[in-house]
Amino acid sequence: MQGNLVKSILSLPRTSALRSTVRTFASSATRWQAVPTEKPVLMKEFKIYRWNPDEPEKKPTLQKYTIDLNQTGPMILDALIKIKNEMDPTLTFRRSCREGICGSCAMNIDGQNTLACLCRIDRNTGKDSKIYPLPHMYIVKDLVPDLTLFYKQYKSIKPYLQSDNPPEKGEFLQSPEDRKKLDGLYECILCACCSTSCPSYWWNQDEYLGPATLMQAYRWIADSRDGYGAQRKEQLQNEMSMYRCHTIFNCSRTCPKGLNPAAAIAKIKLELAAD
Ligand code: SF4
Ligand code: SF4
Ligand code: FES
Repeated sequence: MQGNLVKSILSLPRTSALRSTVRTFASSATRWQAVPTEKPVLMKEFKIYRWNPDEPEKKPTLQKYTIDLNQTGPMILDALIKIKNEMDPTLTFRRSCREGICGSCAMNIDGQNTLACLCRIDRNTGKDSKIYPLPHMYIVKDLVPDLTLFYKQYKSIKPYLQSDNPPEKGEFLQSPEDRKKLDGLYECILCACCSTSCPSYWWNQDEYLGPATLMQAYRWIADSRDGYGAQRKEQLQNEMSMYRCHTIFNCSRTCPKGLNPAAAIAKIKLELAAD
């Protein structure tokens, strides 16, 4: 049909305006008929941590999978989904939003804790990519860590507004300046990348709250609407809950959302020292 249209335009008188119309139609017809060229094959090896709780006598292994990068999306999560869908449905990992919002695809990729959905695949096919679960955690299966303790610690800091003087009607109001104090804190998605990169958390997980939970503790201490800052600080005033932080900054370096938990912990320490 498009070919007939071009023919009937070509049979019309040739003014310059018409000639440009003809050129436009002719080139779009050519484009329409063009055959898409195949991308070259770009095979890359992924080595992925595997452990199955149904076979507890078997040690964890690194399993190799090789996929064509030109047949998958650009992110590590795309590769994992391709492997699961097309090669090995037993491969287990968490994911939900695929855009850095839910925090569920946190894992250790080529030595760095990060979100699989925000981590680009290194297209250097001469180098394999190694994928492990978040370090120093109990494992549920394959790339899925047990976050029970992590959430229990988060719950322990009462991560919600507490106030004995709620406004008589309407909302809790806050000045723009006070609201600004929460920037860089409220954006945390609780992915646990920071806590599981912290050496102090690795060795004292039972008592040290870790950077993610401590940053959220500070998020509520810093909130002008909250009336329980003193109690929140009191809860941290002991040897283990917060003072195990030695300001090594692994947490801030690894945060895939660009947040700075080490700075938040330092601010709590300053406030406690000033009290
Ligand atoms: S501070 Fe960053 S790394 Fe830590 S839990 Fe929040 S988003 Fe994840
Ligand atoms: S700064 Fe503190 S919380 Fe962050 S990695 Fe170092 S010890 Fe852990
Ligand atoms: S899938 Fe939600 S953060 Fe990656």
